[in-house]
Amino acid sequence: MSLLKIESLTKRFGGVGAVDDCSPEVASGSITGLIGPNGSGKTTVFNLVTGFIPKDSGSVSFKARTIDGLGPDRIYALGIGRTFQLARIFPRLTALENMLVPVRRKGLRALFSGAAWSHEKERAMEMLEFLDLSLVAKTLGGELSYGQRKLLELGAVMMAEPELVLLDEPAGGVNPALLERIGDRIRRLNARGITFLLVEHNMSFVMNLCSEVVVLHRGRPIASGRPAHVRSDPAVLDAYLGA
Ligand SMILES: Nc1ncnc2c1ncn2[C@@H]1O[C@H](COP(=O)(O)OP(=O)(O)OP(=O)(O)O)[C@@H](O)[C@H]1O
Ligand SMILES: [Mg+2]
Repeated sequence: MSLLKIESLTKRFGGVGAVDDCSPEVASGSITGLIGPNGSGKTTVFNLVTGFIPKDSGSVSFKARTIDGLGPDRIYALGIGRTFQLARIFPRLTALENMLVPVRRKGLRALFSGAAWSHEKERAMEMLEFLDLSLVAKTLGGELSYGQRKLLELGAVMMAEPELVLLDEPAGGVNPALLERIGDRIRRLNARGITFLLVEHNMSFVMNLCSEVVVLHRGRPIASGRPAHVRSDPAVLDAYLGA
């Protein structure tokens, strides 16, 4: 069953067709990869799905209900979390405080109820522990390494208990040791029932982690299927070599 269904999604920026009649699906329980050369429209797909920018045409449904026309906050509240190509964390807040920002977004009630707040703090500490970040819980976001920021951003997204998480280059610029940890934690969260759609240029990361892969080229899907199948598709090789 597809958790996220995208139909004929299209977006132009001036003369550039960034996303062109694009209809990838994300199966419930999968880790689906969205790959393609630079500028092929991957981040734009994320921005369209999460309501950050309006689409020109097409439709998106989540759990068989349309989310067309909804803004980012509504879509987030329905259970779609996302991270950004450049991790968006608050550099002047500690790692723990960063984790609690999404909780505050749930509303003031969470702040006024002491019991609820300490429960959230406990959840945040558990998630930091799961990510191996408890030692830096009190470290400012701005002092964390690039890979730690990526992990922290993932943790903060998980605080809202999403069913689907869109990850934009979770491995980008991350050192090999942390890379392995990020892959492992995504796999473990997936085993707990979280579905992932991830954009990534690191092919071995994608091939090891994803059950399905969709390849975009100039905004259009040119191949999809199992990683091994996609990897040997001549059209995919052409798209990368030509880029
Ligand atoms: N806000 C914008 N205004 C104008 N053009 C844009 C905008 N966002 C993206 N584009 C263009 O749309 C196309 C797709 O960009 P997008 O960022 O989605 O690609 P991408 O696949 O994520 O690339 P990368 O792998 O480099 O992150 C590119 O030609 C890009 O220049
Ligand atoms: Mg991008």
